[in-house]
Amino acid sequence: MAVGSTSETSHLVSTLICWSHCSDYPIYRDFCPYITNHGLGPRTFNGSHSWYRTHPHMLELVFHRRMLEYPCLTADSARADAVFLPYYAGIDALRYLYGRDVNSSASHGLDLYRFLRSEKPEIWERNNGRDHFLVMARPAWDFSRPPAPDQPAWGTSFLQLPELVNLTALTLESRPSPWQEHAVPSPTSFHPASLRRLESWLARARQARRANLMMFAGSVGVGSGPNIRRMIRDECEEEAAECEVVDCSGGVCDGDPIRYMRVMLRSRFCLQPAGDTAVRRSTFDGMVAGCIPVFFEERSAAEQFGWHVEEGEYGGLSVYVRKEEVVGRRVRVAEVLNGVSREEEMRMRERVLEMVMRVTYRRHGSSVGLRSIKDAFDLAVEGSIRRIKERLTFQSY
Ligand SMILES: *[C@@H]1O[C@H](CO)[C@@H](O)[C@H](O)[C@H]1NC(C)=O
Ligand SMILES: *[C@@H]1O[C@H](CO)[C@@H](O)[C@H](O)[C@H]1NC(C)=O
Ligand SMILES: *[C@@H]1O[C@H](CO)[C@@H](O)[C@H](O)[C@H]1NC(C)=O
Repeated sequence: MAVGSTSETSHLVSTLICWSHCSDYPIYRDFCPYITNHGLGPRTFNGSHSWYRTHPHMLELVFHRRMLEYPCLTADSARADAVFLPYYAGIDALRYLYGRDVNSSASHGLDLYRFLRSEKPEIWERNNGRDHFLVMARPAWDFSRPPAPDQPAWGTSFLQLPELVNLTALTLESRPSPWQEHAVPSPTSFHPASLRRLESWLARARQARRANLMMFAGSVGVGSGPNIRRMIRDECEEEAAECEVVDCSGGVCDGDPIRYMRVMLRSRFCLQPAGDTAVRRSTFDGMVAGCIPVFFEERSAAEQFGWHVEEGEYGGLSVYVRKEEVVGRRVRVAEVLNGVSREEEMRMRERVLEMVMRVTYRRHGSSVGLRSIKDAFDLAVEGSIRRIKERLTFQSY
């Protein structure tokens, strides 16, 4: 098994774009600081070893850095089973989503395509791009705009272009029945570099005193109609002794993991209601803290991250409460959770903690001991290679 990497040019181009425009976009005050440490962001404070102020949209940088130390990397594309494109798709997409190219968002990806066809055409032509993969560190929805140029619609058309239909894209959330993309976990702020650091953190999470029944971290300033977040907010106001809310409205939690990690460590269950999209980074933050996730729809996890957590494993490590039941006031979340026995809760927490490394991106340059455990990056690359093999086999019949 081997992974090739195309010439560094495309990476360089996107890096330059990124450096010159990182304070241009309204969504982040300024994302330049998040670029440091190869996309892990700055350390949470000077003495911290494993904790960083990580922005999930920087996963493209994290992935690229990790790829450089991947043991099966080859410069000889003829030997490669798969070709990794170090193109920072989500970062480059900012100019189409929010910037000067907003009116040509249907052409996002065409430059990359032309580059691949002209730079070393033999690499693309081996399999018509079906062995190429890349990371797009945003939900697939952001790249699924119908390419009709005149319609006002959100997103770029990267995943809709016939030129790019053969690529495999790793996104933070996938569409139902996706063809090109597969979801990978959002990075959390935890990036241990040795087994000792990992184990001491897990011991802390295991021993944490959990006074809260449940918690929710996210934006709570939601509309007035009945919806899941509003129900959760109401329930937490009524049962303040059992429930803690970390209000992340206005992006105040971005880059400030301490704000919610402390609360997750003292809570038994972490509520993960869908927001604008079904998947939440908070799910993985909570798991790192040993806080058992509570989902309200299947799209939030079970249908997304099969390479990292198999669909059948969720029953043993999470609680599922149907959104309609809560919104229709037929069940109260606290009641469901109080119905989970202590033994069952302990078993679930242990399963969650066993999963932590599978949904965590360890720091580049980690110790040999930690490298022997597969992390979210390793599982994503293995999954991509498996998928590419299947496609090549399937299509040759
Ligand atoms: C961290 O260390 C740097 C360099 O030594 C220093 O400039 C900075 O003020 C320190 N930050 C904090 C929060 O202590
Ligand atoms: C995009 O098109 C709209 C409508 O034609 C126009 O008002 C706007 O200025 C254009 N934006 C840019 C950045 O060119
Ligand atoms: C995608 O793959 C199919 C099957 O090999 C091929 O016919 C098609 O030309 C490819 N598309 C591009 C843009 O290379």
